[in-house]
Amino acid sequence: MIGRSIGLSVGVFLTIAASVTGLVIIPNWQFRELQPVKKADGTQYPVPYFGEQLKGRGVYIDQGCIYCHSQQIRMKGYGADIRRNWGTRRSVPRDYIFEKPHQLGTMRTGPDLASIGSRQPSVVWHALHLYNPQITSPGSTMPRFNYLFTEMKSGDALPAGAFPADVIKIPEPLQTNGITQLVPNDRGKALIEYLRGLNKTFPLPEAAQ
Ligand code: HEC
Repeated sequence: MIGRSIGLSVGVFLTIAASVTGLVIIPNWQFRELQPVKKADGTQYPVPYFGEQLKGRGVYIDQGCIYCHSQQIRMKGYGADIRRNWGTRRSVPRDYIFEKPHQLGTMRTGPDLASIGSRQPSVVWHALHLYNPQITSPGSTMPRFNYLFTEMKSGDALPAGAFPADVIKIPEPLQTNGITQLVPNDRGKALIEYLRGLNKTFPLPEAAQ
């Protein structure tokens, strides 16, 4: 009886030790030395998020965008990611060295967003899409994030702290309930800046494709 429980304990210990070694210790040892790559002009890739983009990353996380969007491009031959123009090369560990927690994601109800900033840099597009995806993408199943915006009817005064340049006009045929313009609130603005900054197209030596 005692012999059996010792065998069982040793077995449990070895299973846990092997998993920790394979899933935590070895990957950490392989990747912990990874550094950014210096570009010819002296800047580096990747760079840590800061300011508006860092704040926007928090909004991305707390709104649960990860439940429908991944941020990882598969290599050629492992899916159509590159053919779909979601990225120019596969994603590699170096892309994520400043991302804690990373937003790799596993669900793809919507397109991959690893490089959405290079594919779609327009503030107006992102604002209209987040406010109501049906405006830019009719038939979309993405939920509305309209609470990231102040709705304005014609003649309404600007919300406190907003600048005229922040105002996004809704195209006339798509206006409803007399709402003609939008102003992203602080969180909306930050989220849009985060999305516009998502760009993993920088060529890296370890990701030839
Ligand atoms: C329930 C699933 C779902 C959630 C949650 C969701 N999306 Fe989407 N998203 C989609 C779908 C489906 C599409 C494709 C249709 C479209 O463009 O609206 C999409 C498209 C997009 C696109 C355009 C991608 C492209 O390649 O044109 C962006 C940008 C985007 N989503 C951002 C977000 C952000 C930011 C959040 C969180 C605030 C979010 N999504 C939450 C389902 C979702």
